[in-house]
Amino acid sequence: MVKINENYLKLPGSYLFSTIGKKVNAYIQAHPDKRIIRLGIGDVTQPIAPAITYALHEAVDEMGHKETFHGYAPDLGYGFLREIIAKEDYAARGCNISPDEIFISDGAKSDCGNIQEIFDESCRIAVCDPVYPVYVDSNAMAGRTGEYEEETGRWSRVIYMPCTAHNHFVPELPQETPDLIYLCVPNNPTGTTLTRDQLKVWVDYANQKGAVILYDAAYEAYIAQDDVPHSIFEIQGAETCAIEFRSFSKNAGFTGVRLGFTVIPKALERGGVALHSLWARRHGTKFNGAPYIVQKAGAAVYSEEGKAQLKEQVAYYMRNAKTIYTGLKEAGYEVYGGVNAPYIWLKVPEGMTSWEFFDRLLEEAGVVGTPGSGFGPNGEGYFRLTAFGTYENTAEAIERMKKMPSLKK
Ligand code: MLT
Repeated sequence: MVKINENYLKLPGSYLFSTIGKKVNAYIQAHPDKRIIRLGIGDVTQPIAPAITYALHEAVDEMGHKETFHGYAPDLGYGFLREIIAKEDYAARGCNISPDEIFISDGAKSDCGNIQEIFDESCRIAVCDPVYPVYVDSNAMAGRTGEYEEETGRWSRVIYMPCTAHNHFVPELPQETPDLIYLCVPNNPTGTTLTRDQLKVWVDYANQKGAVILYDAAYEAYIAQDDVPHSIFEIQGAETCAIEFRSFSKNAGFTGVRLGFTVIPKALERGGVALHSLWARRHGTKFNGAPYIVQKAGAAVYSEEGKAQLKEQVAYYMRNAKTIYTGLKEAGYEVYGGVNAPYIWLKVPEGMTSWEFFDRLLEEAGVVGTPGSGFGPNGEGYFRLTAFGTYENTAEAIERMKKMPSLKK
């Protein structure tokens, strides 16, 4: 009889956004006349920018002619895309990253979830609490997180770094020494960031301990503050301790197109082995490349027109963030994030759990958000709203929230 991977059985419930999707669908079935506004999952609503759809069309036409047809992509991705990324995202910011340290993929979620495979099962992971659930769940599937404790909502072998209003949602160096440190900056879900000085502390710590930082920079396009780095490689010493994940989903609206990349400097070694070579082996074995047409679309993100159009798109979402932030503040909520990130993190009214607030918001305002407890025990009592909706829906959602009968003072 075949034995299954029992680590999967230890996972509590379904993936956070699947649970929310099921709850919302059930509600819609029961209330077909209600118009629901979804500010839950961080999925974009603005169409792909014209410079990018143009590149997509051109690439599709190339695929239809034998002279310009493309089959399998090169293992690490097309040179034209890796070169432009190295130039625009790294050299332009003073980072010494070469094109062959960049691995093109179908998105940051896959890479964040898969990277743990190149590390031993015994490695201890450290995560912020609250945290993007993929980091913990993917390690749980691999058997690295110990046992799940129902009453605390914690895994026995995970090192949690609480991020609460008390520490301004900035993680502190853990007491126990981790092997792998997940940092998401700007942060999902709290919307906070780390300044250069704050990030330098982590880089020095990881180098000193021999740990590896898994740095998720999917939201870097939303950074507005000058002292916040866009890449961990802006910090001296990061090339010997960090792997960075980037996405085209949030800066260019590729959630349905799928494209991302991972940077592993060749100088990053553990136990005398270059992690770059392990990931190259894994990538070559398990992945056949992002589609040519999508990689062409990715290159168009860096064209002059592309950059101008995407700047407008980011500004559009940040206007939503401001609308949510100021609207909720006016309504008396304690609100965080929304300045360097497309997420707003709010404190739920006294005496309510995050899931109770989720139900209340859905019933009374027809608005969907994400309960903070879904991101970890320290997310309890908080709630996340995304700025990725349309402006009209966002403004209406906030007006509805202001009028919620049960929250009226
Ligand atoms: C989120 O809502 O946290 C994100 O959309 C999830 C993701 O990017 O995978």
